[in-house]
Amino acid sequence: MKLGFIGGGNMAAALIGGLRRRANKGEEIIVVERDGSRRSLLERDFGVGTRATIDAGLEESAIVVLAVKPADVQQVCESLRAVPGQRLVLSIAAGIPSAAIARWSGTDAVVRAMPNTLALIGQGITGLFARSGVSSEQRAAATRTLRVIGEAVWFGDEAMLDAVTAISGSGPAYVFYFIEALQEAARQMGMGTDQARHFAVQTFVGAAQLAAQSTEDLSLLRERVTSKGGTTAAALERLRESNVGPAITAAAFAALERSREMARTLGS
Ligand SMILES: NC(=O)c1ccc[n+]([C@@H]2O[C@H](COP(=O)([O-])OP(=O)(O)OC[C@H]3O[C@@H](n4cnc5c(N)ncnc54)[C@H](OP(=O)(O)O)[C@@H]3O)[C@@H](O)[C@H]2O)c1
Repeated sequence: MKLGFIGGGNMAAALIGGLRRRANKGEEIIVVERDGSRRSLLERDFGVGTRATIDAGLEESAIVVLAVKPADVQQVCESLRAVPGQRLVLSIAAGIPSAAIARWSGTDAVVRAMPNTLALIGQGITGLFARSGVSSEQRAAATRTLRVIGEAVWFGDEAMLDAVTAISGSGPAYVFYFIEALQEAARQMGMGTDQARHFAVQTFVGAAQLAAQSTEDLSLLRERVTSKGGTTAAALERLRESNVGPAITAAAFAALERSREMARTLGS
């Protein structure tokens, strides 16, 4: 399969790197990237063909991944419209509604995907939505492409991509915020900065892995490490008094609202 990328930045590199690491390296990849040094890097690291502008080189690509910043998507779609050929347009740009991409690029074969930054280490989770012009083969090809950066989950309602943005898109930053606070506590208790970071991060890694491996309710996992009158109970009591749980929920809703607002502005 021939695969085209427009934009050869962080996300494109994560996807291309993942595709290249797979046992079956079936894809012939072309990347359109306007930055010359970035083009050389992509050629050297991944052996892909590159171009500076959108041209006939993309004609035979079965999928063209839009991996530019949201502000560049309209212009890129309009240039792509001039390139003949049948293709799936797979946008990973945050916040741009698929209807706008379909309108700008002149095709209804559009998949909108919302990956997250954990894609950079192959541990991402991506929410996907397909417009009605997408065939089942194209859906399967989009799934295969995005699986190289983590999990890929389809939604029947595009509005759910705002929820994906609020939970997994922005979520890594909420987690970093919590880890930072735990690191600060460790530092104040006398650990050096590096050691404090190590203890805070490893606690998150272990707890996240335990949660991922378990099918039990998270509340049960929490209760199991909380003995009555003990140290964990004292800490959780303080978290409850400070309304930390509801504050995290409210934070995610603030991201949801912002995502909806941005979609309205960017897609108009
Ligand atoms: N990074 C994340 O964690 C993340 C998560 C979810 C979704 N996304 C989405 O993924 C997309 C890409 O993000 P990124 O972090 O990979 O961005 P990035 O590193 O800035 O990469 C975009 C690249 O595309 C180039 N470009 C822009 N317009 C072009 C054009 N017309 N022709 C050729 N190349 C062009 C840019 O060049 P210049 O630098 O010269 O502009 C830049 O090198 C964004 O829409 C973002 O919303 C990213």
